[in-house]
Amino acid sequence: MKKIYLDQASTSFPKAPSVADAVYQYLSGFAVNVNRGSYETAYSVEEQIYDTREQLCRLFHFKNCRNVIITNNITASLNILLKGLLKTGDHVLVSSMEHNAVMRPLTQLLAHGVVFDRIPCRKDGSMDPEAIEELIRPETRALVCLHASNVCGTILPVRKIGQICRRHGIFFILDTAQTAGILPIDMEEMHIDALAFTGHKGLRGSQGTGGFLIRSELAGQIEPLISGGTGSISHTEEIPAFLPDRFEPGTPNIPGILGLHAALTDLENSSMEEIFQKEMQLTEYFLNGIRRMDPEEEKIRIIGRKDTEKRCAVVSIQTLQMDMAQAAFELDSTYGVMTRVGLHCAPNAHKTLGTYPSGTIRFSFGPENTKEELDTALHALAEITGC
Ligand code: ALA
Repeated sequence: MKKIYLDQASTSFPKAPSVADAVYQYLSGFAVNVNRGSYETAYSVEEQIYDTREQLCRLFHFKNCRNVIITNNITASLNILLKGLLKTGDHVLVSSMEHNAVMRPLTQLLAHGVVFDRIPCRKDGSMDPEAIEELIRPETRALVCLHASNVCGTILPVRKIGQICRRHGIFFILDTAQTAGILPIDMEEMHIDALAFTGHKGLRGSQGTGGFLIRSELAGQIEPLISGGTGSISHTEEIPAFLPDRFEPGTPNIPGILGLHAALTDLENSSMEEIFQKEMQLTEYFLNGIRRMDPEEEKIRIIGRKDTEKRCAVVSIQTLQMDMAQAAFELDSTYGVMTRVGLHCAPNAHKTLGTYPSGTIRFSFGPENTKEELDTALHALAEITGC
Protein backbone atom coordinates (compact mmCIF):
# COMPACT_ATOMS: atom_id res chain seq x y z
CA MET A 1 0.00 0.00 0.00
CA LYS A 2 1.35 3.44 -0.93
CA LYS A 3 1.74 5.66 2.13
CA ILE A 4 0.37 9.19 1.87
CA TYR A 5 1.79 11.68 4.33
CA LEU A 6 -0.73 14.38 5.27
CA ASP A 7 0.71 15.36 8.65
CA GLN A 8 2.95 18.17 7.44
CA ALA A 9 1.91 20.46 10.33
CA SER A 10 3.53 17.99 12.69
CA THR A 11 6.76 17.79 10.72
CA SER A 12 7.40 18.17 7.01
CA PHE A 13 8.21 15.25 4.76
CA PRO A 14 10.00 14.88 2.44
CA LYS A 15 12.68 17.23 3.72
CA ALA A 16 14.23 19.81 1.40
CA PRO A 17 16.33 18.04 -1.28
CA SER A 18 19.81 18.90 0.08
CA VAL A 19 19.19 18.19 3.78
CA ALA A 20 19.98 14.48 4.06
CA ASP A 21 23.23 14.81 2.12
CA ALA A 22 24.41 17.77 4.24
CA VAL A 23 23.78 15.79 7.44
CA TYR A 24 25.46 12.70 5.98
CA GLN A 25 28.52 14.62 4.75
CA TYR A 26 29.06 16.10 8.19
CA LEU A 27 28.55 12.89 10.15
CA SER A 28 30.59 10.73 7.79
CA GLY A 29 33.34 13.30 7.30
CA PHE A 30 34.90 15.13 10.22
CA ALA A 31 32.01 15.53 12.66
CA VAL A 32 33.93 18.07 14.71
CA ASN A 33 32.66 20.35 17.42
CA VAL A 34 32.40 24.13 17.07
CA ASN A 35 33.71 27.02 19.18
CA ARG A 36 36.12 24.66 20.90
CA GLY A 37 38.89 23.36 18.61
CA SER A 38 41.47 25.66 17.02
CA TYR A 39 41.70 23.88 13.69
CA GLU A 40 40.59 24.63 10.17
CA THR A 41 37.89 21.93 9.99
CA ALA A 42 36.12 23.41 13.02
CA TYR A 43 36.37 26.92 11.55
CA SER A 44 34.70 25.77 8.38
CA VAL A 45 31.73 24.29 10.28
CA GLU A 46 31.51 27.48 12.35
CA GLU A 47 31.33 29.47 9.12
CA GLN A 48 28.40 27.40 7.92
CA ILE A 49 26.58 28.00 11.19
CA TYR A 50 27.26 31.71 10.89
CA ASP A 51 25.93 31.52 7.35
CA THR A 52 22.77 29.85 8.67
CA ARG A 53 22.21 32.82 10.98
CA GLU A 54 22.59 35.15 7.99
CA GLN A 55 20.10 33.11 5.98
CA LEU A 56 17.58 33.37 8.83
CA CYS A 57 18.13 37.14 8.95
CA ARG A 58 17.41 37.40 5.24
CA LEU A 59 14.32 35.22 5.55
CA PHE A 60 12.80 37.18 8.42
CA HIS A 61 14.09 40.65 7.47
CA PHE A 62 16.26 41.12 10.52
CA LYS A 63 19.58 42.94 10.58
CA ASN A 64 21.57 41.61 13.50
CA CYS A 65 22.79 38.08 12.87
CA ARG A 66 24.46 37.84 16.29
CA ASN A 67 20.95 38.01 17.71
CA VAL A 68 19.92 34.82 15.92
CA ILE A 69 19.85 32.14 18.59
CA ILE A 70 19.81 28.49 17.60
CA THR A 71 18.08 26.03 19.92
CA ASN A 72 16.88 22.46 19.63
CA ASN A 73 13.26 23.33 18.90
CA ILE A 74 10.70 26.09 19.02
CA THR A 75 9.39 24.88 22.39
CA ALA A 76 12.84 25.46 23.89
CA SER A 77 12.91 28.90 22.25
CA LEU A 78 9.56 29.91 23.71
CA ASN A 79 10.53 28.60 27.15
CA ILE A 80 13.75 30.64 27.09
CA LEU A 81 11.85 33.76 26.06
CA LEU A 82 8.92 33.44 28.46
CA LYS A 83 10.66 32.09 31.53
CA GLY A 84 13.63 34.39 31.03
CA LEU A 85 11.54 37.53 30.64
CA LEU A 86 8.54 37.27 32.91
CA LYS A 87 8.74 38.09 36.60
CA THR A 88 6.29 38.29 39.50
CA GLY A 89 3.60 40.87 38.82
CA ASP A 90 3.99 40.78 35.03
CA HIS A 91 0.92 40.39 32.84
CA VAL A 92 0.98 38.73 29.40
CA LEU A 93 -1.50 38.56 26.57
CA VAL A 94 -1.95 35.49 24.39
CA SER A 95 -4.49 34.53 21.77
CA SER A 96 -7.12 31.94 22.62
CA MET A 97 -5.61 29.72 19.87
CA GLU A 98 -2.24 29.06 21.46
CA HIS A 99 -0.29 25.81 21.45
CA ASN A 100 0.98 24.29 24.69
CA ALA A 101 4.49 25.43 23.75
CA VAL A 102 3.26 28.82 24.95
CA MET A 103 0.52 27.83 27.39
CA ARG A 104 2.44 25.31 29.48
CA PRO A 105 5.36 27.65 30.28
CA LEU A 106 2.84 30.39 31.09
CA THR A 107 0.85 28.04 33.30
CA GLN A 108 4.06 27.15 35.15
CA LEU A 109 4.74 30.86 35.57
CA LEU A 110 1.37 31.38 37.29
CA ALA A 111 3.00 29.88 40.39
CA HIS A 112 5.60 32.68 40.23
CA GLY A 113 3.01 35.45 40.17
CA VAL A 114 2.85 35.97 36.39
CA VAL A 115 -0.68 36.32 35.03
CA PHE A 116 -2.08 36.11 31.53
CA ASP A 117 -5.25 36.94 29.63
CA ARG A 118 -6.43 35.33 26.44
CA ILE A 119 -7.49 37.53 23.53
CA PRO A 120 -10.69 35.84 22.42
CA CYS A 121 -10.68 34.52 18.86
CA ARG A 122 -13.73 33.78 16.76
CA LYS A 123 -15.15 30.34 16.09
CA ASP A 124 -13.10 30.10 12.87
CA GLY A 125 -9.88 30.85 14.74
CA SER A 126 -9.56 34.43 13.51
CA MET A 127 -8.89 37.40 15.77
CA ASP A 128 -10.31 40.89 15.87
CA PRO A 129 -7.27 42.93 16.95
CA GLU A 130 -9.60 45.53 18.46
CA ALA A 131 -10.17 43.08 21.28
CA ILE A 132 -6.53 43.55 22.36
CA GLU A 133 -6.45 47.10 23.65
CA GLU A 134 -9.07 46.71 26.35
CA LEU A 135 -7.03 43.84 27.83
CA ILE A 136 -3.81 45.84 28.12
CA ARG A 137 -2.85 46.81 31.68
CA PRO A 138 -0.03 48.99 32.97
CA GLU A 139 1.86 45.81 33.93
CA THR A 140 1.39 44.08 30.54
CA ARG A 141 4.91 43.11 29.51
CA ALA A 142 4.43 41.06 26.37
CA LEU A 143 1.98 39.72 23.85
CA VAL A 144 2.77 36.20 22.65
CA CYS A 145 0.86 34.53 19.87
CA LEU A 146 1.12 32.11 17.02
CA HIS A 147 1.13 33.29 13.43
CA ALA A 148 -1.20 30.55 12.21
CA SER A 149 -3.15 27.89 14.06
CA ASN A 150 -1.68 24.40 14.08
CA VAL A 151 -5.24 23.08 14.45
CA CYS A 152 -7.14 24.77 11.62
CA GLY A 153 -4.59 26.92 9.77
CA THR A 154 -6.24 30.29 10.43
CA ILE A 155 -3.73 33.16 10.22
CA LEU A 156 -3.77 35.85 12.93
CA PRO A 157 -3.47 39.56 11.99
CA VAL A 158 0.16 39.87 13.10
CA ARG A 159 0.85 43.17 11.37
CA LYS A 160 -1.94 44.87 13.31
CA ILE A 161 -0.97 43.07 16.52
CA GLY A 162 2.60 44.34 16.10
CA GLN A 163 1.39 47.92 15.63
CA ILE A 164 -0.69 47.73 18.81
CA CYS A 165 2.22 46.29 20.79
CA ARG A 166 4.57 48.98 19.55
CA ARG A 167 2.06 51.73 20.37
CA HIS A 168 1.71 50.46 23.95
CA GLY A 169 5.38 49.59 24.54
CA ILE A 170 4.67 45.87 24.89
CA PHE A 171 7.09 43.23 23.62
CA PHE A 172 5.67 41.23 20.71
CA ILE A 173 6.79 37.57 20.61
CA LEU A 174 5.66 35.56 17.59
CA ASP A 175 5.46 31.76 17.32
CA THR A 176 5.98 30.94 13.64
CA ALA A 177 5.80 27.14 13.98
CA GLN A 178 3.32 26.80 11.13
CA THR A 179 4.43 29.69 8.92
CA ALA A 180 8.24 30.00 8.79
CA GLY A 181 9.24 29.12 5.23
CA ILE A 182 5.63 29.37 4.05
CA LEU A 183 4.54 32.99 4.57
CA PRO A 184 6.55 36.19 4.22
CA ILE A 185 7.50 37.54 7.65
CA ASP A 186 9.17 40.91 8.11
CA MET A 187 10.34 41.48 11.67
CA GLU A 188 10.94 45.18 11.04
CA GLU A 189 7.62 45.98 9.43
CA MET A 190 5.60 43.75 11.73
CA HIS A 191 7.28 45.17 14.88
CA ILE A 192 8.24 41.70 16.09
CA ASP A 193 10.59 41.80 19.09
CA ALA A 194 11.28 38.07 19.14
CA LEU A 195 10.43 35.52 16.47
CA ALA A 196 10.54 31.86 17.49
CA PHE A 197 10.93 29.35 14.67
CA THR A 198 11.26 25.64 14.12
CA GLY A 199 13.54 24.17 11.49
CA HIS A 200 11.63 20.98 10.78
CA LYS A 201 8.25 22.15 9.47
CA GLY A 202 7.95 24.74 6.69
CA LEU A 203 11.72 25.25 6.53
CA ARG A 204 11.99 21.53 5.78
CA GLY A 205 15.12 20.85 7.83
CA SER A 206 15.53 18.03 10.30
CA GLN A 207 13.96 17.65 13.73
CA GLY A 208 15.98 18.96 16.65
CA THR A 209 16.44 22.42 15.13
CA GLY A 210 14.81 25.73 15.96
CA GLY A 211 15.64 29.05 17.47
CA PHE A 212 14.69 32.66 17.86
CA LEU A 213 15.65 36.04 16.46
CA ILE A 214 15.54 38.76 19.06
CA ARG A 215 15.92 42.52 19.23
CA SER A 216 18.67 43.63 21.61
CA GLU A 217 16.30 45.61 23.83
CA LEU A 218 14.32 42.47 24.64
CA ALA A 219 17.40 40.21 24.81
CA GLY A 220 18.85 42.47 27.49
CA GLN A 221 15.87 41.69 29.73
CA ILE A 222 16.04 37.92 29.44
CA GLU A 223 17.82 35.84 32.04
CA PRO A 224 19.19 32.69 30.35
CA LEU A 225 17.32 29.54 31.33
CA ILE A 226 20.30 27.27 30.75
CA SER A 227 23.95 28.08 31.28
CA GLY A 228 27.20 26.26 30.70
CA GLY A 229 30.23 26.13 28.48
CA THR A 230 30.18 28.20 25.32
CA GLY A 231 33.83 27.94 24.30
CA SER A 232 34.08 31.72 24.82
CA ILE A 233 35.50 33.77 27.75
CA SER A 234 36.38 30.49 29.44
CA HIS A 235 38.45 32.24 32.11
CA THR A 236 35.23 33.16 33.91
CA GLU A 237 32.32 31.25 35.42
CA GLU A 238 29.94 34.05 34.44
CA ILE A 239 27.55 33.58 31.51
CA PRO A 240 28.73 35.64 28.51
CA ALA A 241 26.88 38.92 28.16
CA PHE A 242 27.11 38.78 24.36
CA LEU A 243 24.89 37.00 21.88
CA PRO A 244 24.48 34.36 20.59
CA ASP A 245 26.69 32.72 23.26
CA ARG A 246 24.56 33.98 26.14
CA PHE A 247 21.71 31.73 25.03
CA GLU A 248 23.66 28.89 23.38
CA PRO A 249 25.52 26.91 26.06
CA GLY A 250 26.56 23.33 25.38
CA THR A 251 27.35 21.58 22.12
CA PRO A 252 24.67 22.38 19.55
CA ASN A 253 22.89 20.00 17.19
CA ILE A 254 25.50 20.53 14.49
CA PRO A 255 24.22 17.91 12.00
CA GLY A 256 20.75 19.38 12.35
CA ILE A 257 21.99 22.95 11.87
CA LEU A 258 23.95 21.97 8.76
CA GLY A 259 20.80 20.28 7.47
CA LEU A 260 18.89 23.48 8.18
CA HIS A 261 21.56 25.45 6.35
CA ALA A 262 21.03 23.22 3.31
CA ALA A 263 17.23 23.55 3.63
CA LEU A 264 17.49 27.34 3.77
CA THR A 265 19.74 27.31 0.71
CA ASP A 266 17.13 25.22 -1.13
CA LEU A 267 14.45 27.69 -0.01
CA GLU A 268 16.50 30.65 -1.25
CA ASN A 269 16.81 28.92 -4.62
CA SER A 270 13.06 28.43 -4.91
CA SER A 271 10.01 30.66 -4.60
CA MET A 272 8.23 30.78 -1.24
CA GLU A 273 5.25 32.35 -2.99
CA GLU A 274 5.03 29.37 -5.38
CA ILE A 275 5.28 26.91 -2.49
CA PHE A 276 2.47 28.69 -0.68
CA GLN A 277 0.29 28.83 -3.81
CA LYS A 278 0.81 25.11 -4.40
CA GLU A 279 -0.19 24.33 -0.82
CA MET A 280 -3.26 26.55 -1.09
CA GLN A 281 -4.35 24.85 -4.32
CA LEU A 282 -4.19 21.53 -2.48
CA THR A 283 -6.13 23.00 0.45
CA GLU A 284 -8.85 24.33 -1.85
CA TYR A 285 -9.04 21.01 -3.69
CA PHE A 286 -9.43 19.12 -0.44
CA LEU A 287 -12.02 21.52 1.02
CA ASN A 288 -14.05 21.37 -2.21
CA GLY A 289 -13.81 17.59 -2.22
CA ILE A 290 -15.25 17.36 1.28
CA ARG A 291 -18.02 19.83 0.49
CA ARG A 292 -18.98 17.88 -2.63
CA MET A 293 -19.00 14.63 -0.70
CA ASP A 294 -21.21 15.92 2.13
CA PRO A 295 -22.76 19.29 1.20
CA GLU A 296 -25.11 19.33 4.19
CA GLU A 297 -22.33 18.48 6.68
CA GLU A 298 -24.28 15.49 7.93
CA LYS A 299 -21.27 13.26 8.40
CA ILE A 300 -18.23 15.48 8.10
CA ARG A 301 -17.85 19.00 9.47
CA ILE A 302 -15.04 21.29 8.37
CA ILE A 303 -13.64 23.14 11.39
CA GLY A 304 -12.33 26.70 11.20
CA ARG A 305 -12.37 28.64 7.95
CA LYS A 306 -14.09 26.91 5.06
CA ASP A 307 -12.34 28.95 2.37
CA THR A 308 -8.72 29.61 1.43
CA GLU A 309 -8.57 33.17 2.78
CA LYS A 310 -6.13 34.00 5.59
CA ARG A 311 -5.13 30.46 6.24
CA CYS A 312 -2.31 28.01 5.66
CA ALA A 313 -2.51 24.41 4.45
CA VAL A 314 -3.92 22.85 7.63
CA VAL A 315 -7.48 21.47 7.57
CA SER A 316 -9.33 20.02 10.53
CA ILE A 317 -12.53 18.03 10.25
CA GLN A 318 -14.83 16.14 12.57
CA THR A 319 -16.52 12.89 11.61
CA LEU A 320 -19.96 13.32 13.14
CA GLN A 321 -21.18 9.76 13.10
CA MET A 322 -17.97 7.94 13.68
CA ASP A 323 -15.32 7.98 16.39
CA MET A 324 -12.49 10.14 15.10
CA ALA A 325 -9.65 8.03 16.47
CA GLN A 326 -11.18 5.04 14.69
CA ALA A 327 -11.56 7.03 11.48
CA ALA A 328 -7.90 8.17 11.64
CA PHE A 329 -6.81 4.60 12.36
CA GLU A 330 -8.69 3.31 9.31
CA LEU A 331 -7.38 6.12 7.13
CA ASP A 332 -3.88 4.88 7.88
CA SER A 333 -4.33 1.14 8.20
CA THR A 334 -6.64 0.61 5.21
CA TYR A 335 -5.68 3.48 2.90
CA GLY A 336 -2.19 4.50 4.03
CA VAL A 337 -3.28 8.09 4.77
CA MET A 338 -1.36 9.57 7.71
CA THR A 339 -3.07 12.32 9.69
CA ARG A 340 -3.06 13.60 13.27
CA VAL A 341 -6.17 13.14 15.40
CA GLY A 342 -6.99 14.60 18.83
CA LEU A 343 -6.25 17.94 20.44
CA HIS A 344 -2.94 18.75 18.72
CA CYS A 345 -1.34 20.07 21.95
CA ALA A 346 -3.71 23.03 21.78
CA PRO A 347 -6.67 22.43 24.12
CA ASN A 348 -7.78 26.05 24.24
CA ALA A 349 -7.67 26.35 20.46
CA HIS A 350 -10.13 23.47 20.38
CA LYS A 351 -12.28 25.21 23.00
CA THR A 352 -12.30 28.30 20.77
CA LEU A 353 -13.24 26.24 17.73
CA GLY A 354 -15.93 24.33 19.66
CA THR A 355 -14.15 20.98 19.25
CA TYR A 356 -13.04 20.35 22.84
CA PRO A 357 -12.66 17.69 24.19
CA SER A 358 -13.36 15.43 21.21
CA GLY A 359 -10.77 17.13 18.96
CA THR A 360 -10.48 16.81 15.21
CA ILE A 361 -8.78 14.83 12.46
CA ARG A 362 -6.17 17.12 10.97
CA PHE A 363 -4.92 16.97 7.37
CA SER A 364 -1.95 19.16 6.50
CA PHE A 365 -0.29 19.56 3.14
CA GLY A 366 3.19 20.30 1.84
CA PRO A 367 4.55 21.34 -1.54
CA GLU A 368 5.23 17.78 -2.63
CA ASN A 369 1.78 16.40 -1.90
CA THR A 370 -0.34 15.84 -5.01
CA LYS A 371 -4.00 16.01 -6.00
CA GLU A 372 -3.88 12.27 -6.62
CA GLU A 373 -2.92 11.77 -2.97
CA LEU A 374 -5.79 13.99 -1.89
CA ASP A 375 -8.15 11.99 -4.14
CA THR A 376 -7.12 8.87 -2.23
CA ALA A 377 -7.68 10.63 1.11
CA LEU A 378 -11.09 11.92 0.00
CA HIS A 379 -12.11 8.53 -1.34
CA ALA A 380 -10.99 6.93 1.93
CA LEU A 381 -12.96 9.46 3.98
CA ALA A 382 -16.07 8.83 1.87
CA GLU A 383 -15.82 5.07 2.35
CA ILE A 384 -15.03 5.26 6.06
CA THR A 385 -17.83 7.69 6.91
CA GLY A 386 -20.36 6.33 4.39
CA CYS A 387 -20.75 9.65 2.58
N1 ALA B 1 2.83 21.18 17.08
C1 ALA B 1 2.93 20.15 16.13
C2 ALA B 1 1.58 19.72 15.62
O1 ALA B 1 0.69 20.51 15.61
C3 ALA B 1 3.80 19.04 16.52
O2 ALA B 1 1.41 18.58 15.25
